[in-house]
Amino acid sequence: MEKYLVIGNPIEHSLSPKLHNYWIKENNINAIYEKKQTKKDDIEKIINDIKKEKIKGVNVTVPFKKDVVPFLDQLTSLADQTKSVNTIYKKNNKIIGDNTDVGGFELALRHINYDVKNKKIFILGAGGVTYSIILALKRLGASKITLSNRTKEKTIDLKKMYPDLNILNWGEISDFDMIINATSLGLKNEDQINLNYSDIGSGKLFYDVIYNPKNTNFLLNAKKHGNQIENGKMMFIYQAQLSFKIWHSILPKINYKLLD
Ligand code: ATR
Repeated sequence: MEKYLVIGNPIEHSLSPKLHNYWIKENNINAIYEKKQTKKDDIEKIINDIKKEKIKGVNVTVPFKKDVVPFLDQLTSLADQTKSVNTIYKKNNKIIGDNTDVGGFELALRHINYDVKNKKIFILGAGGVTYSIILALKRLGASKITLSNRTKEKTIDLKKMYPDLNILNWGEISDFDMIINATSLGLKNEDQINLNYSDIGSGKLFYDVIYNPKNTNFLLNAKKHGNQIENGKMMFIYQAQLSFKIWHSILPKINYKLLD
């Protein structure tokens, strides 16, 4: 039986096993997908297990998407451009790192028919996922991308990669058509992002990368003030679908109710 894994820390909350095992069963594949809480020191051993084919494929989640890079033989173009890997496998005796978060985010926007072209985007947070989101927004033709992170130093690498990025201090706000919460603020129900929702007004898209809880305070407040809202569920499902395709050469069917 082939073994697949998602590694991260924390990992209990991950719904990847539910999704992948559902598709594995639906497609009659002899495999199992598990989750493993991982320390940074465990990464080398896990990659070795892929080399030995004890493990066929690995998904990587917070906070290791960049940490795995030095252990890999080759990066795909998207993984290289974002320096961020969420899908690992062995091909032609090489360990390959790929990134399906970029495609996952693009497909999630397409799913709600939101055209980013010429739009002004404001991103909160500069963690791992922000690298993928910015590349996707660039590919889709966003006209202006502004970024704000509590720890400003963390925006330095991103600014080097994308010199036309606008950087604001945490708490400052820019004019935008779409705002994205790419921080972990909202994972706890009581988390609040300090925004003046009345000043921001209505008719904008508020996008939260978080999908559990479904409605963060960020989204609830935005909705109250007449904005469109979207959580990270579809991005999560699409990135999983693209990983599944890489490993099994089958694009699995999405069951929209599976994660409700
Ligand atoms: P990593 O940086 O390891 O990839 P992440 O979980 O992907 O981690 O990112 C966490 C993001 O949420 C970061 O942008 C973080 O801001 P800092 O860089 O200042 O740590 C942000 N974040 C987490 N808790 C926050 C808080 N209480 N207020 C503001 N931002 C917060």
